[in-house]
Amino acid sequence: MSFDTLFNWNDMPDLLEKYLPIWLNEKTVDKPSVANLNNEERERLKNLSFQDQGKDPNEILDIMSNDVYKKLWKIDHPRNMAFVPSPVSPLSSIVEICNSIFNPYAAGYENSEGTNILENKTIRFLAGALGYDEEQAGGFSTSGGSMANFSAFILARDQKLKQEDFAKARIYATDQAHSSIAKAARLLGFLPQQITKVDTDDDFKMIPADLRHKILADKENGFCPFLIVATAGTTNTGVVDPLSEIADIRDEFNLWLHVDGAYGASAALSSYRSILSGIERTDSVTWDAHKWLFQTLSCSFLIVRDGKLLHNSFHSSAEYLEAVEDDNATFAETNGWDISIEMTRPARTMKLWFTFQVAGMETIQKALDHGFESIVYLAKLFENKKDWRIVSEPHMSTLNVRFEPEGWSKEMTDAAQVYLCDENLKTGFATYITTKLLGDKVIRFCAPHPDLTKADLEKITIDLFERGAELKANPDLIYD
Ligand SMILES: Cc1ncc(COP(=O)(O)O)c(C=O)c1O
Repeated sequence: MSFDTLFNWNDMPDLLEKYLPIWLNEKTVDKPSVANLNNEERERLKNLSFQDQGKDPNEILDIMSNDVYKKLWKIDHPRNMAFVPSPVSPLSSIVEICNSIFNPYAAGYENSEGTNILENKTIRFLAGALGYDEEQAGGFSTSGGSMANFSAFILARDQKLKQEDFAKARIYATDQAHSSIAKAARLLGFLPQQITKVDTDDDFKMIPADLRHKILADKENGFCPFLIVATAGTTNTGVVDPLSEIADIRDEFNLWLHVDGAYGASAALSSYRSILSGIERTDSVTWDAHKWLFQTLSCSFLIVRDGKLLHNSFHSSAEYLEAVEDDNATFAETNGWDISIEMTRPARTMKLWFTFQVAGMETIQKALDHGFESIVYLAKLFENKKDWRIVSEPHMSTLNVRFEPEGWSKEMTDAAQVYLCDENLKTGFATYITTKLLGDKVIRFCAPHPDLTKADLEKITIDLFERGAELKANPDLIYD
């Protein structure tokens, strides 16, 4: 097997025949949901240098299969409930292989017409699911929610803010908005004080009356409100801000309303669509298919109610692009570099298009519903359990709980949440970690995987309750 010309495609089938079964074996549910490198493996990887002469691909693929890809937090494992998990359908993985072999230049409409037609169709379908007018809407695929949110900020700035008002600009979001929101503002040159924090209610949702009050106060003080960022499925608790009431305020003050639905926009394809009520009135929505639409990393979208606006903000021209530019193109046939930040990009949407085609939307709906239902079941297991408090009720597929033995200090109780998560991680059975709500450490479960079973959830809670009881009997374990 020789790759000394770099282009030995002929040996690829043999390599795949050998390694695909090895890799697919890792997808079985009896494998740990989390595994880390040991010291020896870590050192071995650090010492692998590049040399003038190439090596046998089998030797290197063995190392990759054993040390690199097996020793990680499997974010697509059914029992991974940390961060926002990424349950992946093999339907998505198949298209990853297809994309990497055919390598379409997806940015150019003429360069890869088929992928563009299908991407466009998929984006319009997603827009329709949100309640936007499919013909008027537009959007693009991008690497993740962070890029989609950042792009929405650019649109909002260009549509709603005069250049001379930049220093007086104000953005509105709650403290539950994802960190990519503050980052987008910073990257665009806004100062931290240009984000006005809107209060949340007991459910961690934006309070519309406070939003209105703060916009009015900012205007009175000579500032220029231009953008409201609401969230559909916050990272911490999964709640959806009251979108209809927020849209009323957007109308009153003529602002841009962006919804970060990186996690929760997928609810639009579930039986629980009504929780997104009002999303059809927003201006733009971030939607990560690599979070809760069963796609490999990465696959995200910005969907815009008025698709024509994208061209205003992102259009670029160059003499070397003229050969593939078409003055008569409809806005649905626009080249990717004219409607988004990226130029070269993969045909990401093909994964989602194929998944929708093959699975069918009824299966997608059931798979999403399962996430809603799993978390309700998990919450039931915590209900009335001594020493445990449900801190935030199930929303989307997220639940937060806290182990609170009577008489323990806040400091010790906070440390207990971390201890319990760390001890669980050592087992590799399931993955969950802490977050903070109202200043308290809590244990957060996010359970969107369609293959997560009730039996899994029962075992996860039994183990956790046992560990909690053990800790209550011997609190020094925290500090050992
Ligand atoms: C609500 C929300 N918005 C945005 C993001 C950022 O998305 P990405 O990691 O795809 O950039 C996340 C990530 O967890 C998220 O939960």
